Amino acid sequence: MMDKINIGVIGFGTVGSGVIRALLAKPHFFEKKTGARLVVKTICDKDIRTKREVSVEKSILTTDVNSILHDADVSIVVELIGGIHPAKEFILEALRRGKHVVTANKALLAECGEEIFQAAKKANVDLYFEASVGGGIPIIKALRESLGGNHIDTLLGIVNGTSNYILTSMDEEGLSFNQALIEAKKKGYAEKNPALDIKGIDSAHKLAILSLLSFGKSIASNAIYVEGIEDISLSDIRYAQDFGYVIKLLAIAKNINGQLEARVHPTLLSKEHLLSNVKGVYNAIYVHGDLAGGTLFYGRGAGSKPAASSVLGDIIDVARNIKHNSVNRVPIYVEDKTIKKVRDIDDIETRYYLRLSVIDKPGGLGKIAAILGRHGISIASVAQKERKQAKIVPVVMMTHDAKERNMRLALEEISRLGGIKKKTIAIRVER
Ligand code: HSE
Repeated sequence: MMDKINIGVIGFGTVGSGVIRALLAKPHFFEKKTGARLVVKTICDKDIRTKREVSVEKSILTTDVNSILHDADVSIVVELIGGIHPAKEFILEALRRGKHVVTANKALLAECGEEIFQAAKKANVDLYFEASVGGGIPIIKALRESLGGNHIDTLLGIVNGTSNYILTSMDEEGLSFNQALIEAKKKGYAEKNPALDIKGIDSAHKLAILSLLSFGKSIASNAIYVEGIEDISLSDIRYAQDFGYVIKLLAIAKNINGQLEARVHPTLLSKEHLLSNVKGVYNAIYVHGDLAGGTLFYGRGAGSKPAASSVLGDIIDVARNIKHNSVNRVPIYVEDKTIKKVRDIDDIETRYYLRLSVIDKPGGLGKIAAILGRHGISIASVAQKERKQAKIVPVVMMTHDAKERNMRLALEEISRLGGIKKKTIAIRVER
């Protein structure tokens, strides 16, 4: 039984400062919760000169990561530097040396998760990563533990605050994509280089983790089909509104009769859907299980305090496990061998919103409808909008369920029609 548990923190940035501030501000609170004194023994960062929002004794600051990794008295290593290298090497070394690890590193777990999970298993230590997805939302623990009795069939997530902020500003304030992006940067929501966010890659990283925990099938994040939000125009947002929908960047994972679907793309969602009301930088994850039915996890997806909340929850879990000799009680995930394959995007079936730019003359729409029909795609509704440019008119459609492959072939054929003037926009629809 340990009465004191030493913690080493690698990364004294926004999240690190939030975690350390809480641990230093209320030691008795954490002692009561865990039965052990949680001591921040060492903090490592490249920069230990810049003043942080929490002041710590100089003697516990170091730029040498080995002061943590080689210190036999450190039981928990908290990795908060992000990125693949050198975080991966630090974590693997910590695990090898028998230390429990708490990390917020989504990119690393999405890209090298299997290697890290195996290393934790081999070392018989705990690896916790609540802050890697959804900031302060307790989704990882829910999937690993609370929903453990369910067979999950669907997971839909808004897991990128930057993209959701941009889409919400377009929807509610009528801003263009570029105006909304500039505003997100001004408010400090978007990174200087927001490419990972708006291209959907950050969401794919998070989906790789969520999907593994939900379905017990490992999928590389680069095997996930990804489309970002850069091509979403204000017109599509307006037309979607006319049909009773909003456009969200969704991370979608489904188990369809033993085939796993995992994809990230802009999606039309009915205004009635719970996720439609997740606005601005907020995140939410909808999980449907055979017993629980639909559940919704909502909260702040980023920021010092929300991420610190998740990291601290993990530290408490690990400390309790150490105290009660129950390390490794909760497996990271349980493999489901009944999932045979990851579905190719061409094999998914969904409804579509289409926007075509058509020359306004008799018979134009008829030819388009005929091509869709030949590919087995049935139109649910269609609206011709007002002419904006001479002779070219936007035609928007909602289809019934169609196979992606058929849609792709139909769109290729439509693009060769003389009357089609621009690339047809196709956006998938989720119920
Ligand atoms: N860049 C991320 C976002 C931060 O916009 O949601 C949280 O992972």
